[in-house]
Amino acid sequence: MKILFLDQSGQLGGAELCLIGLAKHYGNDCLVGLFAPGPFSQQLAAQQIPVEVLAAQPLNFQKQSGTLQAMKSLGQLWPLVQRVSRLSREYDCIYANTQKALVVGAIASRLSGKPLVYHLHDIISSEHFSRFGQQVIVTLANQAALVIANSLASQSAFIAAGGRAEITEVVYNGFDLAKYSAGEMAIAPPHSLKYDRLGAGDGFVVGHFSRLSPWKGQHVLIDALQHCPPQIKIVLVGSALFGEESYVQQLHTQIERLGLGDRVQFLGFRADIPAIMSACDLIAHTSTAAEPFGRVIVEGMLCDRPVVAAAAGGAVEIVRHSQTGWLTPPGDARKLAEIITTVYEQPERAKAIAQRGQQEAQKRFDLKTINPQIDTLLSAVVA
Ligand code: UDP
Ligand code: GLC
Repeated sequence: MKILFLDQSGQLGGAELCLIGLAKHYGNDCLVGLFAPGPFSQQLAAQQIPVEVLAAQPLNFQKQSGTLQAMKSLGQLWPLVQRVSRLSREYDCIYANTQKALVVGAIASRLSGKPLVYHLHDIISSEHFSRFGQQVIVTLANQAALVIANSLASQSAFIAAGGRAEITEVVYNGFDLAKYSAGEMAIAPPHSLKYDRLGAGDGFVVGHFSRLSPWKGQHVLIDALQHCPPQIKIVLVGSALFGEESYVQQLHTQIERLGLGDRVQFLGFRADIPAIMSACDLIAHTSTAAEPFGRVIVEGMLCDRPVVAAAAGGAVEIVRHSQTGWLTPPGDARKLAEIITTVYEQPERAKAIAQRGQQEAQKRFDLKTINPQIDTLLSAVVA
């Protein structure tokens, strides 16, 4: 079976990291066609996954775009659609991994007659998309032979927005377990952690791993910090991947206003996530809008770290409160501070919960079982 994967991004977001794990399974039997150059294409090439940047320039249609902007980007779209359609004749199906990839893939699939698969990494709701954006995604995704939703939450939002239930299947993200369970790993230079974790000193490090973006809620964690004991420090790992630099400025202003400058460290985008997670006492996920899946939550669990996650979307499918981690109401800094303080004060309980979390995550999110699930679904589509 030969797959033509399409993804609009040059950056390494969660959807792209998920695709790397899947495309690796197909190796030379696939091609990943991208609409922008960048670290994602470099990462694919480094892992010997066939990759080609198909678009001359990135498409400028955004999540919140309306009809007018969409019309303007149609001119840009046509050469790309033709190229994808021609290419797809050598493959058994077109696998769109992002929204713009869906737009291009759906039209190309009409032209070439090759079946379309859409991997839905988003919650289709007004929290995340303009009304027009939701309509476009649902209309085009309904033409697909298969929609793979990354969680039950993404699946039900899709159906509620008018998506066809009978074409959707839920498959969670899979992870290469070996990468996360190596115990304490060396953090790559140049920047190391400024703070000691409880095991090493009397400090306590809360790690937040996500692109810096308002809905990822780094501001909620900073807000919570002022209500936590002074031994507690925060490390923010990630950068503004999609042009949200003004939010980064807001975070710095907030830290200064609260006088927390010596308790928060920004590490920027990092490739050594398991090593940094292992050096933290707690992994916090703080999205203010429903998280479609939430790779970082699973990664924290796989690293044998306690996790606290905002209770909405995929997060509640990953974590069982007080059993395999903690859940907290999205946007509630006081409640988050309470949980952080509990984990700080009860290290033995936190350790037991982290261990249970790790075992459960290893069972549920192993790439070795997730990839065959997708392969079976794709085989049925192609047959
Ligand atoms: N990540 C990373 N480097 C960073 C910050 C995040 O590699 O500096 C990774 C993180 O480990 C996770 C992914 O980016 O695998 C983010 O995926 P998630 O599903 O949590 O959120 P998304 O950003 O896709 O909405
Ligand atoms: C998207 C979602 C994220 C999910 C990832 C992988 O980037 O925002 O929640 O974990 O895709 O499916």
